Amino acid sequence: MAQFTLPKNSKIRKGTHFKAEGGNIRQFHIYRWDPDSGETPRVDIYDVDLDRCGPMVLDAIIKIKNEIDPTLTFRRSCREGICGSCSMNIAGTNTLACTMKIADVKGAIKIYPLPHMAVVKDLVPDMTHFYAQYASIQPWLKTSSVAPPDKERLQSKDDRAKLDGLYECILCACCSTSCPSYWWNSDRYLGPAILLQAYRWLADSRDEAAGERLDELKDPFRLYRCHTIMNCTSACPKGLNPAKAIAEIKKLVVAREGA
Ligand code: SF4
Ligand code: SF4
Ligand code: FES
Repeated sequence: MAQFTLPKNSKIRKGTHFKAEGGNIRQFHIYRWDPDSGETPRVDIYDVDLDRCGPMVLDAIIKIKNEIDPTLTFRRSCREGICGSCSMNIAGTNTLACTMKIADVKGAIKIYPLPHMAVVKDLVPDMTHFYAQYASIQPWLKTSSVAPPDKERLQSKDDRAKLDGLYECILCACCSTSCPSYWWNSDRYLGPAILLQAYRWLADSRDEAAGERLDELKDPFRLYRCHTIMNCTSACPKGLNPAKAIAEIKKLVVAREGA
């Protein structure tokens, strides 16, 4: 039987344990990798006194950086689930560190970067390809008609409501990085986040480029690598349903072909 061994530089080693005293200590096990060090990744353990820490996982990570280890690297901005920059894998789930309560995780809290992405450093994934895929769907209103000279392009309340469940997407990539099809085919498959965004423009009554958009999407890889596994919908920290948006795009393709 063939035997496979991981290359040496892909093995995660034990890191440093930053110990602390206190009555309410919780351990945070955090993935660390610095491309400039030439060393393999490691997992450092930080003891955090929860009596002196805010309630969210992001509060603990910020505390670690401020008070224990300033070399820890991660992204964050809004700290309220709006910017999408603090997405990471916490206790086995892709989610936002700022909206994940420490109290909702039992025992040591294990934190890794979003899976199946190249890592820039520590908890920071390389989003270059993801953003290029986003740009590829031309995420802006496309029109051929002339806009009214004295007012905006208006929508009825019902048409506006069709964007609910779509416009709230913060492009955190929690869904795409939990999708097995995206893991294996992210070079060509757009993945749930970008397809939900693509549907956001298809569903917009003011957009006049539906045909062009569907021509671009109708491709065995860009759209049809979705196999309705639904991991994306379970992962979304904003409660959105990318799998449904993908199904709606597929319906539009079929309807257009039957027309
Ligand atoms: S439903 Fe589609 S996009 Fe969502 S996880 Fe499954 S394969 Fe990926
Ligand atoms: S659909 Fe949800 S999980 Fe996916 S990028 Fe948007 S907000 Fe994040
Ligand atoms: S810091 Fe903005 S979503 Fe978490």
